[in-house]
Order: sequence, then structure tokens, then C-alpha cells
Amino acid sequence: MTVESQQYIFDTFNKANQGHIFKYYNDLNTDEQVQFLNQLASIENPSKLVSTVTDAIKYSSSNSSSKNFTQLPNEQTASTLDLDPNTSQHWSELGFKAIADGEVAVLLMAGGQGTRLGSSDPKGCYDVSLPSHKPLFQIQAEKVLKIQHLAQNKLKLAKLPQIMWYIMTSGPTRKSTEKFFIQHNYFGLDSNQVIFFNQGTLPCFDLSGEKVLLQSKHAICESPDGNGGLYKALLNNGILEDMINKNIKHIHMYCVDNALVKVADPLFLGFAIDREFDLATKVVRKRDANESVGLIVLNDDTKRPCVIEYSEISQELAEKKDPQDDSKLFLRAANIVNHYYSVDFLAKMIPQWISSQEYLPFHIANKKIPAIDLKTDQFYKPETPNGIKLEQFIFDVFTSVELSKFGCLEVDRADEFSPLKNADGAKNDTPTSCRQDYLKRGTNWVKENGGHVDEGAYVEVDPMSSYDGEGLEFVKGKTFANGDIV
Ligand code: UTP
Repeated sequence: MTVESQQYIFDTFNKANQGHIFKYYNDLNTDEQVQFLNQLASIENPSKLVSTVTDAIKYSSSNSSSKNFTQLPNEQTASTLDLDPNTSQHWSELGFKAIADGEVAVLLMAGGQGTRLGSSDPKGCYDVSLPSHKPLFQIQAEKVLKIQHLAQNKLKLAKLPQIMWYIMTSGPTRKSTEKFFIQHNYFGLDSNQVIFFNQGTLPCFDLSGEKVLLQSKHAICESPDGNGGLYKALLNNGILEDMINKNIKHIHMYCVDNALVKVADPLFLGFAIDREFDLATKVVRKRDANESVGLIVLNDDTKRPCVIEYSEISQELAEKKDPQDDSKLFLRAANIVNHYYSVDFLAKMIPQWISSQEYLPFHIANKKIPAIDLKTDQFYKPETPNGIKLEQFIFDVFTSVELSKFGCLEVDRADEFSPLKNADGAKNDTPTSCRQDYLKRGTNWVKENGGHVDEGAYVEVDPMSSYDGEGLEFVKGKTFANGDIV
């Protein structure tokens, strides 16, 4: 680094009122100084960042309850719970055709630190104690393999089609994720079809939002930039370019912690392809008025789709029944962060999204952040929140999608959604609930195909045996005991 660029870093941070971070600079050895300056050099515009934090604080306290939220119109939605078989078949065929033509890629978000789960490994490495002890990454990899084989058979292809799998990691999850894949030989996938890339990081601030925290005397505190960091990461790591070069047209994006995810689901892909949506999302039905989930709704003022948190609607609206069918809630489309994107749309929109606070505002979260106390010069681990982490949310860009180009597909929760969020002992979304949901689904498939399962017993259906309950005719008339793997 040249003397001029060093000076530039000092000047820009001082100008942004961040001179405190250099308090120990003159005591550092040369390596530490270089390391520190390199970290700081990755922050392009410190003054803008500081004003962004101020905006974020404002945004977090702004009240959105005055907005007018309603259901998405019928033309934008469908439900697999009452889909007619012809449409279902048509959409699946479209999805399989796109897979066979090499036009589909899968995008996995695996950058989260899983603090609630409390495992030191990335969530994808987690074994929820299925009889096979397959970790989440393996289940997902085998779903990709299986769907490739199904596409090959359905379209009678000589060669196995390949689905690219782009995996977004973060500083804390990258190394161990990659190592896990190498150790397990990519779970049978071709190593060239798996590409890892990192989301960005953002500095952490004190609670006032004015001062960046120091992690050590030669490093500032940083944290992953949230699931909305996906868009910037796709551009900055050349992933979008890679997709375009490979002629990929359709992306299925999902979260690593859903034990029931249908990776590269042909029906969902076909739903979006058929209706020419730019962006589509899968939802499950909200369980009851008080379930704490985000909802996909229409902002009736702007006529744009958006996601609202459960805290953003009144109890009255949360409890309102659907006038068409009063057995259902009016707003019931629960967000499971499972999306379709057309690559053309991403290519057009990402540059706009990442340059505007309007589309990707920073959200703030008060956290306990281990840091250096500048008064005592000592490192400390706080017991109450002492700082702010900044995050972007993946769904904030939904408001930029024209309503006619946005789709929402309701799917059966029991078939498609069981997230791993908490350690066992918590009320829900634990390793135990993921295991039970996974085994229940497989057991139902076996029973539907004429297999006998002992009373109270559960069997595991291997992803290589069946992607979605198909191909299980061989179980007919056979009896299975608890813990059997089909
Ligand atoms: P969560 O918001 O549940 O976060 O992530 P988490 O890190 O898994 O768990 P906690 O909140 O620390 O307990 C939902 C999905 O978004 C991804 C996660 O990997 C998961 O697939 N994610 C989250 C990222 O990829 N990057 C992030 O910065 C945050």
C-alpha cells in the first residue's frame, strides 16, 4: 500500500469522525498496521457509511402501520393445495424442460451464523439425527442429484443435465463449509457444479450509531451484511456474470436451514416460467393469527408486493378472515424465504438495488458485541447489548417488482417447510421438529404407495430413492419398522 493510499484512509476515516479507531495505531507492529489498513480500505466511503447508520436508525423507528396492506390479486397466486392435476403436470414439465436445457441454477444462502442453534459448525453441516445421519447439505446435494436424474429420464437425454449450485457463505461460515464439501466428495456432485462465494461484511457501531467498534487494537468489529447482502455478492463475485455466461435463465433460491426444501422444484420453476414472472416466492399458510411470521402482501397504496413483519399489522388485521372463505385468514401467505428469480431480471435490477437505500435499506439490530473499551483499553464481552449490527433484507427489493411480474405459490407446510432455528428445548424449529417433519413426510409417501409401517413407527425416505414421493412403487406390500431407510 502506498503512502498516499495510507494517508487517504486516515483522512477519510478522520473526516467521518472515526479518528478513535487509530488510538493504538502507533503501537502496532508493521504487519498489524498493514492488516488494519487493508481492512479499512475495503470500506469505500466511511462518511456515507456513518450517514447510512443514521438512516438505518431512523428507518427502524419509522412506523409502517399506516400502510394499507391487502392480499395479492388472484392472477399472481396459486396454491398446490388445490391445484388441478393438468396445471400441476404442465408446470412440472416446463420446469423439467428448463433443467434439461441447462437453464436452471440453485442459489443457497448459507452465510448465517446460526446463533440461536448454537452449533459451532455451519447449519448445513448439522445432523438432525435422522436414521441415516445425513446432514442438511447432503440431503440438499442429493435432491439436486436426484432431480438431474429425473430430468434425464423424463426427457430421455443421453447425458445427465447439470444444475449449477451457487452457495453463498460468509467470513464465519466459508472455510468450514468448503472443507465439509471436500471431505464428503461433494456428496456425489461434480465439484465444478458447486461454486462458493462470500457475502460482504459491515462494520459494527456503538449504540448511538456514531462510532465504529474496535475488535482489537488493529481490527474493527464487522458482521455479515444480512441475507440481503446476496445481491451485492452476486455482482461483486462475478456470480451473475457466470450465470449469464452459462446461459442460465432461472434461479431457485432457498435457505440452508429448511429440512424439507425441494431444491430446484420443477413445479415452482414451471409456475414462474409459464406466467413469465420476474420474481416469485413460495409461501406456506400462516398457522393462526398469532404466528410470528413475515407475510407476503400487496401494499394497496403503491400496488407493489412486499413483505411485512408480524409486528407491522394490527391485531384486527392479523385476525381478519378471508371474505371468500372464512376458514382461512385474510393475510396468510407466510414467507419462507424460498424464491424464484429470472436471471434477466437480476441482471437489470441488481445494479439499481445495491446503489439505493430505497430498495435495500440497512436494518439495525442491537447486539452484544465483544469489543475494546476505549476508556480502559481492555477487550470485553458485554452482558447487555453494547452495539449495532447492520443488515440488509433479501425481500426489501420486492417493492421494485411490477405486480404483474410477481408470483406467489402457496405450498403445503408439511411437505415443504421445517426450519432449523433453535436448539432442542425450544418450543419449535428445533433439530427434533426437523427430524420429525422429515420422517413424517417420508412415512406418508411410503403409506401412499402401499407400504405398511408399524403403528407409531417412522421411516426415512432417502433423497436418492424419491425426490417428492415419486418412484416408490417398490414399497407396495412391504412392511417397515421404525428407523428403516427406504
Ligand atoms: P436466519 O435469519 O435464520 O439466521 O437465516 P441464522 O444465521 O441462520 O440464525 P441466527 O439468527 O443467527 O440464529 C435464514 C437464512 O439466511 C441465511 C442463513 O444462512 C439461513 O439460510 N443468512 C442469514 C445468510 O446467508 N447471511 C446472513 O447474513 C444471514
